[in-house]
Amino acid sequence: MTTKLDFDLSWLAPETLKAWPFGELKTENAAHLKETLVKEFDYYSEPFPEGDKALRLIVEDTPEVTLDGYKVLEDKDTVKVTANQPEGLIYGFFHIVRSYQQSEQPELSTLSNPKNKIRMINHWDNFDGSVERGYAGKSLFFVNNEFRLQDERFNQYAKMLSSVGINALTINNVNVHQKESYFITDSYIREVKHLAEIFRSYGLTLFLSVNYAAPIEVDWVDSADPLDDKVREFWKNTAELIYEHIPYFGGFVVKADSENRPGPFTYGRTHADGANMLGEALKPFGGTVFWRAFVYDNHQDWRDKKTDRARAAYDHYAPMDGDFADNVVLQIKNGPMDFQVREAVSPLFGSLRKTNQVLEFQIAQEYTGQQKHICYLIPMWKEVLDFDTYADGPDTTVQDMLVKYPENPERNGITAVVNTGMDENWTGHKLAQANLYGYGRLIWDPSLSAEEIAKEWIQATYSLSDKGRETLLDMLMTSWDTYEKYTSPLGIGWMVQPNHHYGPNIDGYEYDMWGTYHYSDRDGLGVDRTVATGTGYTRQYHGENYEMYENVESTPEELLLFFHHMPYSHELKTGKTIIQHIYDTHFEGFDKVLEYQKQWESLEKEVDDASYQNVKERLEEQHRCAREWRDQVNTYYYRKSGVDDAKGRKIYK
Ligand code: GCU
Repeated sequence: MTTKLDFDLSWLAPETLKAWPFGELKTENAAHLKETLVKEFDYYSEPFPEGDKALRLIVEDTPEVTLDGYKVLEDKDTVKVTANQPEGLIYGFFHIVRSYQQSEQPELSTLSNPKNKIRMINHWDNFDGSVERGYAGKSLFFVNNEFRLQDERFNQYAKMLSSVGINALTINNVNVHQKESYFITDSYIREVKHLAEIFRSYGLTLFLSVNYAAPIEVDWVDSADPLDDKVREFWKNTAELIYEHIPYFGGFVVKADSENRPGPFTYGRTHADGANMLGEALKPFGGTVFWRAFVYDNHQDWRDKKTDRARAAYDHYAPMDGDFADNVVLQIKNGPMDFQVREAVSPLFGSLRKTNQVLEFQIAQEYTGQQKHICYLIPMWKEVLDFDTYADGPDTTVQDMLVKYPENPERNGITAVVNTGMDENWTGHKLAQANLYGYGRLIWDPSLSAEEIAKEWIQATYSLSDKGRETLLDMLMTSWDTYEKYTSPLGIGWMVQPNHHYGPNIDGYEYDMWGTYHYSDRDGLGVDRTVATGTGYTRQYHGENYEMYENVESTPEELLLFFHHMPYSHELKTGKTIIQHIYDTHFEGFDKVLEYQKQWESLEKEVDDASYQNVKERLEEQHRCAREWRDQVNTYYYRKSGVDDAKGRKIYK
């Protein structure tokens, strides 16, 4: 879909509005967002000049509104949006745009408060222009070790993010390499400020990922010991410099002692020592430290079956609950391993009661098809947010825990590794836009269903017939299940090609040091994480969940091999053995991709050409790759088990 802007902004294109009754805009007390609101109003008004209503946007004390939420009241002549903070007006404005995309006569009056205060994305962009786990072209922000000069595009991006409620971002990779370590210095602070200003004009706060060893890397300090005065001085001065230029700077994201990154362990200090030292430096300016909990032994010996990577984050951080400063936030991945297509929910959620926390998702499809395969991730994320931790008895979901503990709602929420880049459609695969859109909508309002969100995105993006809409909805809604079917079975994860993680390699990581094993032998497969006979990981959950996972019978089958080592002959609730389940799901998953190809072809006349070609080509690759997964997994397990497919389908023996 072409717009009057350069790149594909299809879910925000004015042409997707069904009507627009506004002839006049009044903004009051919106201070730094005023210009943006005026510009956006003009952008959407142009194709609909005949408006007869006024749109009034007012910052005023609105008791029912919390955080950066908004209230909309519509009467005969006016639509009035009120908010306590100017940012709320932006979200209220986009609520109105969205409503007119969905219907010609929408119900505008509403009260909308975001569930999560922090609604963030993390770029894993490198200064050289590459993107770690990036599948949508080069970095939006950097090229050849320089900041890009692309203000128009940054404005569009800020608008896209803001339109779905996202309010914070980091622009650089959590693995902060040598050159990026200088972003916090005088060398680059003006460039950072420039970006921060653009994002702020849409209500987003900019953060930087920082190198824990920056004192050594960028200064003459001979240490990064958090208790060393010289080190503390370095960070204090750094914070002063940054805030002098950017008073509304958000703070730091830190990956320390993780996958060979430096950290406090080198100096025999704890992560609380490290994080609090940074917190102290940012405190006078109101800044926040996001301290990532992705800490595990990545030099594991595959022979050692007692060490369990899944245990690592809990073992390390649960005993430190309450040790972190009030402007430090622990950033915890949704699962205890690493963004697999299926894994258990991190037991840290529900265990920390005195620690600010954000949950980290991965919108970038590192392990879910790398934006070459369709994989609509909202259903997965909903399962995570709805997971009952039993922390305070039944019905204490992960989402509840995120906002409940501690009581400071200012420093809790959700973040995610984002899936965008310089590709014209932002996300490489056009349908991967639905994940970015959906991420924002879901974390603002986790009560929305995955289907509602998908419908919204489809309606905002394309003008389809009823049948066309249903077709695309079916493709999105079944895609996670499909991907799971033809890849690793029953929650075991991995089986991907080492390093780049695309395509199958069943033993690719089996004898490696990363702690990601499936232990397949002639009799069975899976990781025994029970207390009774395994690594004891199940004990990290509260009573009810511990019991559920400790026993084979009560473990949800989609996670069976995550928790238990099982024989191929084990009968599942469907009456099928595990080996037959493996064969069946792999054939079914592949067949479903063939169906997607037909379904997409049926939409040729209804979608724009660029979208059509983009998705068509990617489906061809998905077809090729799914076939490879199907045959490698089936052959591998036939050769291990010697059991034939009961349905006699082709297995390459
Ligand atoms: C995964 C990913 C890395 C990334 C890491 C992280 O391991 O493959 O590229 O750096 O997660 O989250 O820090």
